[in-house]
Amino acid sequence: MNKKLIAGNWKMNGSLAANDALVRALVAGLGVQSACDVAVAVPAPYLAQVQALVAGSPLALGAQDVSQHESGAYTGEVSAVMLREFGVRYVLVGHSERRQYHGETDVHVAVKTQRALATGITPIVCVGETLAEREAGQTEAVVRRQLAAVIHLNGHCISEVVVAYEPVWAIGTGKTASPEQAQQVHAVLRAQLAAASPRASTIRLLYGGSMNAANAAQLLAQPDIDGGLVGGASLKAADFQQIIAAAQ
Ligand code: 13P
Repeated sequence: MNKKLIAGNWKMNGSLAANDALVRALVAGLGVQSACDVAVAVPAPYLAQVQALVAGSPLALGAQDVSQHESGAYTGEVSAVMLREFGVRYVLVGHSERRQYHGETDVHVAVKTQRALATGITPIVCVGETLAEREAGQTEAVVRRQLAAVIHLNGHCISEVVVAYEPVWAIGTGKTASPEQAQQVHAVLRAQLAAASPRASTIRLLYGGSMNAANAAQLLAQPDIDGGLVGGASLKAADFQQIIAAAQ
């Protein structure tokens, strides 16, 4: 069994004051070591603040996006090397909100994954189908296509990524995939990874989409669910801590 990873995705939420209170509470709750890995993916302007707050604790710092470019004339972008300078350990890549609102394609996601890996940051590669795709019976084909692009470009390095299955219809909607629905897709992803890497069984597959304190334990009990990517419930210390407890 893989060590579980619970990652909070704050999205575009937070403030200096709110972050301070939230991260201090999480750090205090985790103590010096934790039975599962825990990370928070924060908005870029808060990286330095949260880096200082998590110093010396098991709480890992994450970012929500990374540029596909190394450096140069790309206004507004943040490079993997810059993230690394702030102690970033994980970066979300290809979140559905990036794909949907910022035109990220499977190829962008594959290149961003490569940038993160080359810099020593663990990419959390997000895949997932929309409601229309699920209803059309395309779930497997969609997630396999999204993951195939990443495998194709990254070859054997694929064993270093984390994959997050986030059905778009479950994000921020309060509709969670059932443990069986999630496990079914995770098994598909695991099999696809197994065809590409002898270490596929060690690749952590996270579930994301309305994960909360009430449903986390059942989801995390599935054989191919190695953790969670948590949006809304990661903004409240008590809720996030209950999810962490369910993973321990
Ligand atoms: P919610 O947990 O708010 O549904 O968000 C999930 C998500 O998108 C995490 O990346």
